[in-house]
Amino acid sequence: MNYQKFYNHSIQNPEEFWMQQAQLLAWHKSPTKALGKDEHDYHNWFKDGELNLSYLCIDKHIEDGFGDQNAIIYDSPVTNTKTYITYNELKKEVEQLAGGIKSLGLEKGDTAIIYMPMIPQAVFAMLACARLGVIHSVVFGGFAPHELAIRIDDCKPKLILTATSGIEIDRIIPYKPFVDQAIEKCEHKPKHVVVFKRGFLTDVPLKSYDIDYKELVSTSQPADPVVVPSTHPLYILYTSGTTGKPKGIIRDSGGYAVALKFSMTYVYDVDPGEVFWAASDVGWVVGHSYIVYAPLINRNTTVLFEGKPIKTPDASTFWRVISEHNVKVMFTAPTAIRAIKKEDPDGNFIKSFNLSCLKYQFLAGERCDAATLNWTQQHLNIPVIDHWWQTESGWPMLANMAGLELMPVKPGSASVPVCGYNVAILNELGEEVEAGVEGYVAVKLPLPPGTLSNLWGNPERFKAGYLNKFPGYYFSGDGGYKDEDGYVFITGRVDDVINVAGHRLSTAEMEEVVASHTAVAECAVFGVHCDLKGQKPLALIVAKSETGKSSQHISNEVVTLVRKEIGAVAALREVLVVQRLPKTRSGKILRKLLRQIADDLEYNIPSTIDDIAIVDEIKSVYQQHQIGIHKNISHHE
Ligand code: COA
Ligand code: AMP
Repeated sequence: MNYQKFYNHSIQNPEEFWMQQAQLLAWHKSPTKALGKDEHDYHNWFKDGELNLSYLCIDKHIEDGFGDQNAIIYDSPVTNTKTYITYNELKKEVEQLAGGIKSLGLEKGDTAIIYMPMIPQAVFAMLACARLGVIHSVVFGGFAPHELAIRIDDCKPKLILTATSGIEIDRIIPYKPFVDQAIEKCEHKPKHVVVFKRGFLTDVPLKSYDIDYKELVSTSQPADPVVVPSTHPLYILYTSGTTGKPKGIIRDSGGYAVALKFSMTYVYDVDPGEVFWAASDVGWVVGHSYIVYAPLINRNTTVLFEGKPIKTPDASTFWRVISEHNVKVMFTAPTAIRAIKKEDPDGNFIKSFNLSCLKYQFLAGERCDAATLNWTQQHLNIPVIDHWWQTESGWPMLANMAGLELMPVKPGSASVPVCGYNVAILNELGEEVEAGVEGYVAVKLPLPPGTLSNLWGNPERFKAGYLNKFPGYYFSGDGGYKDEDGYVFITGRVDDVINVAGHRLSTAEMEEVVASHTAVAECAVFGVHCDLKGQKPLALIVAKSETGKSSQHISNEVVTLVRKEIGAVAALREVLVVQRLPKTRSGKILRKLLRQIADDLEYNIPSTIDDIAIVDEIKSVYQQHQIGIHKNISHHE
């Protein structure tokens, strides 16, 4: 099929286009109308439709005769486990757990937090919540108790589902103790904590709110799917914004299901029955959409991988998983490829596996540099497709729609707008700019189904953050440009969000934590280039005068503090003590200038700078710590 024709239809007549796609799902009550408005005057989809996503992901396929097909392959090199879970088995696990959750008093509209490692029980928990209409919020395991506490206080769950422990390359992650610490910190106290006991860290002291997962499941009555309206929130997923407080993205049910099913066919070119693998984590949007809901709605076999691209045990793991489980389409972050490339530059591991099953390699989560794309292309010899999306969109906004028409790949570009997304590059005044000119990446409203419906408990922030900057458009927070062929090149965030190893983090949040250290007078945290992780955070601090501590000592304490408060995933390792920070005369810290100097980019020193001598001081501190190479061209504005 022709991309342009299909795309044009989706933009010119979105209601007809998406209604046709909606008919491919087994609704409990089919929608009669596609597009509507909610109480905040924002668009919603298929308002009078009713469905249940757990039913669509499981029961429907069993009714169609596919109960014996594998739904999930759990491959865990860190525990040396491989488990194959059929749709019949998945149903049993999910309906029993849903029955257990129901017996604890949860019902449609309640919230539950899931804080679990990459084990099948995390997927069961999501689907069990969905079965009851309970809104889940999965929190990524790399976040510390403080971050978990913020999310508990925001979405006020009646229940937390967790496991005793997770496993990183070199250590055990104490999930359950982290939950206990978080509950101690927060104002809202969840009534119950359901704990799945794994083979390690079994001696965690019991709390009065604890319930054993296995006991709960073995004694409960199976629960049937609860039908919900299309607009019912399926989940809340917190993501980093431009302040210290994360934003709870709300995802609806019906629009999401329609969009995910559509994307499996037209973006990923994967048919029911085939094996799909997104090597991400259920704590991120990629995990929600492409480890759990999309492959299961589409009756694929999804791979749940508990490991890393390297060191579990080595850089061959990805290729072993692909060939062993017959993966047709794989999705990972460019960072993972860079990590593999570093350990296996000639792709020798790739050559040692039969990868004939693999038809496409998709990359997303951060900007993909041409070298990484080309290396992957050269060694896999299949289409390598960079595509762009966000937690907010829930599914791709820019992609080479492989299931529709595979177009030429242009390294550095995530290709063209996906059906439903009318992507525009705007200037500060909200006017579309010409091809080749960089601007703000925005999407003309209405967004297609499946995208965020609001922010949990904060519709004002939703409007202020996404809709007010360019009336009539959704503002993505990214910068970029289009070329003459309509390919979009994303150049990076234009706000305080950074992307470290495909993990979205807020420098504003890190700055709040750094500033809370007793020895810190003022500070700036910003993202700088990292060969492996794409970006990494760098903190500059001005120490208070009489701390009695050495600079090294303060730096170490700040690193530990950020790790303790935000979590290991923040990956802040470099904290430099400086005498002063460059500011404008009105006192605004010149973070952009600090970043540009660190990254050896061309920069302008703003004419409003308070004291130009600070620039040389900063350069010399960078040189001392080997940050950048310092061949900048500088001149005054
Ligand atoms: N639970 C607990 N801790 C976690 C975690 C989790 N789920 N995920 C990461 N961490 C920890 C890591 O152990 C690391 O701790 P350390 O500082 O003690 O080493 C820290 O958070 C930073 O993690 P990361 O930035 O991922 O670095 P890494 O060195 O552990 O791994 C890669 C590097 C490239 C192997 C890894 O980043 C990777 O696989 N990236 C792919 C990214 C991805 O899939 N992103 C999802 C979006 S599509
Ligand atoms: P997240 O919400 O965690 O998925 O992060 C979304 C952000 O990651 C986007 O706003 C982009 O800044 C970045 N991103 C994701 N995919 C790409 C891509 N293919 N190219 C460039 N940036 C990307």
